[in-house]
Amino acid sequence: MTDPAEREEAHLPAPSIGPIGFAVGVVVVLVGLIVNPLWISTIGAAIAVIFGILWAREASAELRRSHVAPEPELREAGVGDAPAVPANVGEAAMPEPEPGERFPRSKFLEASTLGLGAVIGGVVTVPVAGFAVLPAFLGQKRHEVDLGPVSDLAEGQWYIATFMTDPKEGETSRRTAFVRNNGSVQSGGAQVPSFTIISNRCAHLGCPVQANGPMGKTKKETTANGPIQLHETQPAGFGCPCHGGQYDTEGNRTAGPPVRGLDRYDFEIKNGRLVLLSMYSVAKVEGTGAQAKIHKYKLAGPGEHVDGVEQILYPLNPPHH
Ligand code: FES
Repeated sequence: MTDPAEREEAHLPAPSIGPIGFAVGVVVVLVGLIVNPLWISTIGAAIAVIFGILWAREASAELRRSHVAPEPELREAGVGDAPAVPANVGEAAMPEPEPGERFPRSKFLEASTLGLGAVIGGVVTVPVAGFAVLPAFLGQKRHEVDLGPVSDLAEGQWYIATFMTDPKEGETSRRTAFVRNNGSVQSGGAQVPSFTIISNRCAHLGCPVQANGPMGKTKKETTANGPIQLHETQPAGFGCPCHGGQYDTEGNRTAGPPVRGLDRYDFEIKNGRLVLLSMYSVAKVEGTGAQAKIHKYKLAGPGEHVDGVEQILYPLNPPHH
């Protein structure tokens, strides 16, 4: 004869780590979408899938268990005949199956609620996660911008260059950079060209900063990136019309609310032409022109500190293109 308390134990489902592991996996996916869509989100998705399968297997095993005949000991005690089981114990609280009913209705409702929840969750989550994660798998397209022959850019002269980063996207991809040919600099035993190429995106909230100085002639070129314009200018610095942020000619913040210097472009010289590569952020620049020492960081959003103690306020940086 089995103790009633033991019988209650027998009817309670075994503790499961499936739902907990699944939830942990989903959390890791969401964190990964911000921190590192490629690796962390993939690991999170793998955790979610493994524990999701485990959870589903446990649920179906539980369902099957509910159809088997009562244990011999319980049968002996008449527990298999429903009236002997207290009405408020575990699954006995649910309506007893009708005679001949293969699946109890409570189990059917439980399984269908779980299944419906999973379908709705999948329909909502998969497209969003796909759009966020797939580009990382497919690789970001590197937008190179051909600004034309280096010989067209006079040494020591500033230019305001306007160009499209992706001609297929048209004017929405038009950007502006301040470009100065610094001549050449000694590097690795050879003379290499030096350019200062500063983005006009304000480091406060992203407004377009302007050159503080007169404009000269305008050159127009057509390259693989469509029409390019090079406006000569003689800036004493750069200023932002939105909230008065000011920068010197190396892009260092000198006044106003910006939290760091202006971002810059990497570049290379290809077949005698100046080609802009990806952007990076700058905390500050020491020195000028070809001798400048640039404190360079991964591209950050406007308003984000990249150095000092404040940088800990921005641990999660969404991907930038
Ligand atoms: S956006 Fe430039 S100062 Fe605010």
